[in-house]
Amino acid sequence: MAAGDPREVITVADPAALAQTAADRVLARIGANSGRVAICLTGGSSPKKLYQLLATETYRSQIPWGRVHWFIGDERFVPADNPLHNMGVARQIFLDRFAPPANIHPIPTGAADPDAAARLYERELQSFYGADALGPAKPLFDMVLMGVGPDGHTASLFPGYPAVEETRRWVVGVPQAHVEPFVPRVTLTLPVLGSCREMLFEIGGADKRAILTRVLDGENLPANRARSTGETIWLVDQAALPANSRER
Ligand code: 6PG
Repeated sequence: MAAGDPREVITVADPAALAQTAADRVLARIGANSGRVAICLTGGSSPKKLYQLLATETYRSQIPWGRVHWFIGDERFVPADNPLHNMGVARQIFLDRFAPPANIHPIPTGAADPDAAARLYERELQSFYGADALGPAKPLFDMVLMGVGPDGHTASLFPGYPAVEETRRWVVGVPQAHVEPFVPRVTLTLPVLGSCREMLFEIGGADKRAILTRVLDGENLPANRARSTGETIWLVDQAALPANSRER
C-alpha cells in the first residue's frame, strides 16, 4: 500500500490460512462486543471456505448465535433459492443450521424490482440501526466482509457506475451488472459498507493477482474506495500477491 494508506495488508500462505484467519477475525469481532453484533457477509466464491469453517464445531460453538445478526453487502436479483443468491449460499452453508431466523437479514429479492428491494432493505437497516443517518461514533456493523472482482468492483459497486458515487441512499438497485453473472443487483453503498469497526477483504488465488496489482498501485477503483471508519484489512494469500511482493 502507498505511504500513509490507512489500510493494512495481511498476507497468509494459502486458501486454508485465508479462511482460518478470516474466521478467527470474525470470532474476535464478535468477542469484542458483548451486546448485539452485526456482521455483513459478502457473495461470490471467496467467502465459501470461511462459511464452511464457521459451521465447524470449533467455530460454531464459540458463536453466541442469539445475539449475532447477519446481513449481506450485495445481492443478485434472483429468487432466494437460486444458486446465484448470495445470502442463499451463506444460509445453506451455515446460517440456516445455527442462526435464529430473525437474525438473518436477506435483501428481499421477491420485491417488484431491484430498486424496490433496495428501499426495503434500506428501511430494515435503518430500523436495526435506530436512525436514518449514520453517526461516526456508532458504526452500523461490527464487521463487513468484502471481495474484489476482476474489474475492481466490490459488493455490486462497479467502476464508473453511479452507485459508486451515492452518498445519500444506504442501498441502491443496479439494473445491469458489469461482469458475470449478468443479473441485476442490489448493493449497499460505500458510506454504509464503511460504517463498521472492521472491513475485511478476502483475496485468494492467482486469478486475483492482476486486479490486486492494480489495487495496490492505488488505481481509482470501487474496491480501492471502500474504507471502514474503523479498520480496513486486506487479507491476501501468496498466490494472489503481485510477483514482486511474494515471499520466496
Ligand atoms: C457478488 C459479490 C462480489 C464479489 C466479487 C468477488 O455478488 O458477486 O459480492 O462483489 O465479492 O465479485 O467474487 P469472487 O469471490 O467470486 O471472486
